[in-house]
Amino acid sequence: MCGIMGYVGGRPAKNIIYAGLQRLEYRGYDSAGIALLGKTVQTTKAVGDTSQLDMEALNSKLTMGIGHTRWATHGKPSIPNAHPHTFGAVTLVHNGIIENYEDLKELIDTTKLKSQTDSEVLAGVIDYYLKKSGNLLDATKQALAEVRGTFGIAVISPEAPGQIVVARRGSPLVIGVDENQHYVASDSAAIVDHTDKVIYLKDDQIALITADSLELYDLKLNHQNISVETLEEPGQTLDLDGYASYLEKEIHEQPTSLKNAMLGRVLSDGSIKLSGPNLTQEDIMGLENILIIGCGTAYNAGYYAKYQLEKMLGIPVSIEHASEFRYRYGAYDAKNTLAIFMSQSGETADTIASLREAKRRNMKTIGIINSVGSTIAREVSHGGIYLHAGLESSVASTKAYSSMVTALLMLGGMISYKSGKDAMVTQTVAHELEALTKEIEHTLKLQPQIEKLARKLSKYHDWYFLGRGPLYPVAMEGALKITEVAYVHAQAFATGEMKHGPIALIDDKHLSVVLLPEDPLLYKKSLSTLEEIKARGGNVLTVSTRPKEEASDHHIEVAHNGEYTDGLIYNVCLQLLTLAVATKKGQNIDRPRNLAKSVTVE
Ligand code: M6R
Repeated sequence: MCGIMGYVGGRPAKNIIYAGLQRLEYRGYDSAGIALLGKTVQTTKAVGDTSQLDMEALNSKLTMGIGHTRWATHGKPSIPNAHPHTFGAVTLVHNGIIENYEDLKELIDTTKLKSQTDSEVLAGVIDYYLKKSGNLLDATKQALAEVRGTFGIAVISPEAPGQIVVARRGSPLVIGVDENQHYVASDSAAIVDHTDKVIYLKDDQIALITADSLELYDLKLNHQNISVETLEEPGQTLDLDGYASYLEKEIHEQPTSLKNAMLGRVLSDGSIKLSGPNLTQEDIMGLENILIIGCGTAYNAGYYAKYQLEKMLGIPVSIEHASEFRYRYGAYDAKNTLAIFMSQSGETADTIASLREAKRRNMKTIGIINSVGSTIAREVSHGGIYLHAGLESSVASTKAYSSMVTALLMLGGMISYKSGKDAMVTQTVAHELEALTKEIEHTLKLQPQIEKLARKLSKYHDWYFLGRGPLYPVAMEGALKITEVAYVHAQAFATGEMKHGPIALIDDKHLSVVLLPEDPLLYKKSLSTLEEIKARGGNVLTVSTRPKEEASDHHIEVAHNGEYTDGLIYNVCLQLLTLAVATKKGQNIDRPRNLAKSVTVE
């Protein structure tokens, strides 16, 4: 978690760093800070997001510095715990966790520590070695040799004018290259407005950067080859475009983001072409299992696709939480299993670790990723599918979910066709996807109706989300969304599970959101559950492609687009419901408490 931004060049650094940090706030927003290097170091820090920083405290003429936006791991959000940290002659920003920081304290005068962070201890250890060697690169290398844990760091010192030393293990860092100036950031989003030439640091690499030079080493200071890549995605604006929040904007962007996901891939003749996944005909013919791995909303999107891919391909599709898969013994046959890694950011620590574990087990791995050039996108063995959903700024993921589901449906359609299964399946999926964007546009028009409903429903603190078949994972996503944004206690259950326990909690203070399926048989069965909830005094909101049932208290009617894609339409309603309830409750819509968008620590 946390965002790092640094600059060294000929231009005033403070606004460049500030703007970069704003781009990185999705990685954490507990506190922020910027340090500029002149003859001495000037630092400003604040609790909260970057808007709280006193930028007047910084000299506008200084042309190098580093900044940070934080998601607390060690030590609560406070000014002393905010980065950059200075110890002696060393100032640094750090992402990651130094596991052995207590042991490392032996090397430093702990009475000088001002914070409770592991990062300040690391600054102290670098300072310890700087005093011995007088060389910042060498001192950082020596300090990192003592470290157990993960880091992305940027280090400056008045004793090394004009230099920024950066290093990475586990926490991403990218260097932006431009004429007589360099940038460093934890995500290219922070530098894409300045340059499209970047170098992605690999684990256990360290670099010495000045305005006009860049040297890259491993952690033993052996020279490494530099490979400069060109960013494919243009910079994207952070404008709200008249919406009250990024969440609202991103929910409304879905017709466009879905079109972008399908562009050149879903063709009007009912075929699906994907050039990203590098799967040979032999790979496809030999495919016996699919394994989908992700966290949070990415996991929920994979779960929905599990139902659909099993129906399309007739092979087992498993879904795993990345945090479980990475440590679990899962008996997968590597040869015939395709492991699919889902991630908006491409930087989620558990998903990256699971990818590495799957590769260790010789599985074929592909990525369904939004962030171009991210770690997962670069490390998968068999390519993947970029979502092209554009920047998702709100911590709660919305448009990435619908694009992830779309990407998996396209993948299923392509595999079905290439494996010679049922050609009709591919055509049905393609035609449903083509029609979907219009239906999502119509669904978004339900916003005023849903806002009205939210005014009545926001009094409930405990919500159940119930779904059957592919609507069960939609219920899971609905529960996750309202939990994280509106701080509502919500749980999802498969509708048929109600009688096996959860019904015990039903009373008139409980709201059940029942997603009624299109399938007539399952519809009838779900209605029985609805009646059982009503019989126990519960309150019910139904979402369905049919008109309101008498037993239901509140109702949202949605369009029926088709068996593969209806869940996406239900999900848009639940997104709008979350937005409306959170707005009614006055919550911080885009920056919910305790969260960060990209969970880059375990
Ligand atoms: O960047 P990723 O898709 O890998 O992120 C996974 C989860 O951390 C993310 O979906 C999280 O659950 C969101 N807060 C959901 O809205």
